[in-house]
Amino acid sequence: MLRTHTCGELRIGDVGKEVTLGGWVDSRRDHGGLVFIDLRDRYGITQIVFEPDQAAAFEIAQTLRSEFVVLATGKVSARGEGLENPKHVTGQVEVDVTKLELLNKSKTPPFEPGSPTLPNEELRLKYRYIDLRRPQLQKAMMLRHKLTKAVRDYFDRNGFLDIETPIMGRSTPEGARDYLVPSRVHPGTFFALPQSPQLYKQLLMMAGYDRYMQIARCFRDEDLRADRQPEFTQIDVEMAFVEQEDILNTIDGLMAHLFKEIRGEELPLPLTRLTHRESLERFGNDKPDLRFGMELQDLGAVAAECAFGVFKDTIGNGGRVRGLCAKGAADKYSRKNIDELTEFVKIYGAKGLAFFKMKDGKLESSITKFFTEDQLKAIIAKFGAENGDLILCVADSNKVTSAALASLRIRLGKELNLYNPSDMKVAWLLEFPLFGWNEEEQKWDAEHHPFCQPVKEDLQYLKTDPGRVRAQSYDLVCNGYEAASGSVRIHDPDVQQQVFDFIGVSPEVAQERFGFLLDALTFGAPPHAGIALGLDRWVMMFLGNDNIREVIAFPKTQRAADLMTGAPSEVDLKQLRDLHIKTDVPKP
Ligand code: AMO
Ligand code: AMP
Repeated sequence: MLRTHTCGELRIGDVGKEVTLGGWVDSRRDHGGLVFIDLRDRYGITQIVFEPDQAAAFEIAQTLRSEFVVLATGKVSARGEGLENPKHVTGQVEVDVTKLELLNKSKTPPFEPGSPTLPNEELRLKYRYIDLRRPQLQKAMMLRHKLTKAVRDYFDRNGFLDIETPIMGRSTPEGARDYLVPSRVHPGTFFALPQSPQLYKQLLMMAGYDRYMQIARCFRDEDLRADRQPEFTQIDVEMAFVEQEDILNTIDGLMAHLFKEIRGEELPLPLTRLTHRESLERFGNDKPDLRFGMELQDLGAVAAECAFGVFKDTIGNGGRVRGLCAKGAADKYSRKNIDELTEFVKIYGAKGLAFFKMKDGKLESSITKFFTEDQLKAIIAKFGAENGDLILCVADSNKVTSAALASLRIRLGKELNLYNPSDMKVAWLLEFPLFGWNEEEQKWDAEHHPFCQPVKEDLQYLKTDPGRVRAQSYDLVCNGYEAASGSVRIHDPDVQQQVFDFIGVSPEVAQERFGFLLDALTFGAPPHAGIALGLDRWVMMFLGNDNIREVIAFPKTQRAADLMTGAPSEVDLKQLRDLHIKTDVPKP
């Protein structure tokens, strides 16, 4: 070993020891004939000091620049009274260097990892190996390691087997576009990178491996957002001879274990459970942020009776009038601010945003004239409004009021500091609809994937009222993120074919795409169920970060590219010829 200690290790008890540290030059200061260097590695920063009487070392020290890599040997000494640096755990000591070896130089780095200001993200991604020296990213990588280890420990203790499934396989229908890999051996055919190990893990259940887990890499060619990467990681789980309740309990246990290991907190179990319907009603979406209230209320009854045309007509046309009450926000939102909020809800399809301010026990607004005293009182009662509150309402379809108010709620929650950002509120969402209407293709699609078991008593609506058929599926939500998703699977080939028929997958197509699964269902398939947790998202949430790229060592950009290696890239003509591939790229 070239070094005796790390840069985060030395304490006052080490004074007098002869040590050798290796690391990067974080900063250099020349003071009164002495040179001070902050030496950095992933464990921390230690100050090393050079005096002119150690001539050889001193001479090199004067030439050191940011990110040079050195090996420094010397004695640990206590810093003088008042010279301690409380910012570093090693801040009570320093090393008086007697020998210095310059291991490598660095060109002037594009940014300094030690700088408190965040460099531009493109630059950070291009020079990711320098970016990864930043303490924030090091913290993220360490937390990620700790989390994965805790996950494996938990499942191991509960008798799960960690089994790897192929990366090169057949396309699985998770709803995104596949990344394809051409086969050289079988010209004109392609492997698909897995969008998830869904079908393989079901086959493992049929093969008798009743408790499976895997930290699985998944690939999806979809529009990227702050919480999505084309290549991401799932904590993938499947169990046989179980019901929904068993999966919920198993994951409750996992959550409690993670909260203990990572946050040192007792997580009260069982986790809160909401139905999908209830969540849409109270929060407007299916991934509610439960760190704060400000729930949506329905004003349908008042709206139907009032003289405000927009409200009355909306109800008359089968729409809804819903709103939320921002406590104490009346004075914080001027006319201009409310205009901004109005523009904001328009992004989600709303046509306007009606508001009331509660002052001296009364509602004030340009539209109060359209309401009777009793109607205004009913509005106050509905929201439990008090002086200083701001009520905001949207009249539109169920869908638009949900989407607009859900987003407004999140925005106001942030703007009004309604929650502690380091809080984590986890809950189950249950009873999702099995099918969703695909407006574009004018057909019903599987809402999650086509292998979810319908709720038995709902199967009768399959033909008459498909939107009403609930799935035995569940999501775990945390702080406004969908953090996991799963279901009880169909293990009866007839039910599976019924579902395929319904979403327009003919027996021939089903056979051609999932024949292996349908076959396996006829060779003794036990009841089974599973779930997958978005590992990257959990690391984000435990870190309190809202950018998924901050928790992945080598992430892709929003445009699905790797700026460091330049992937994706063109390849040699010979490679293409071997694969029998001709490209047909439109000229820009
Ligand atoms: P689903 O598609 O819902 O379910 O994915 C499970 C969880 O993975 C996370 N996730 C993502 N994270 C980052 N980037 C992405 N592009 C991305 N896509 C999904 C989310 C999500 O909840 N096979 C099923 C699971 C099952 O039924 O067992 C599946 O993949 O946190
Ligand atoms: P108007 O009569 O169009 O001037 O609108 C009066 C108020 O009602 C304004 O604050 C509008 O933003 C609001 N408004 C208009 N349409 C809607 C709607 N669909 N839902 C909620 N408020 C609306």
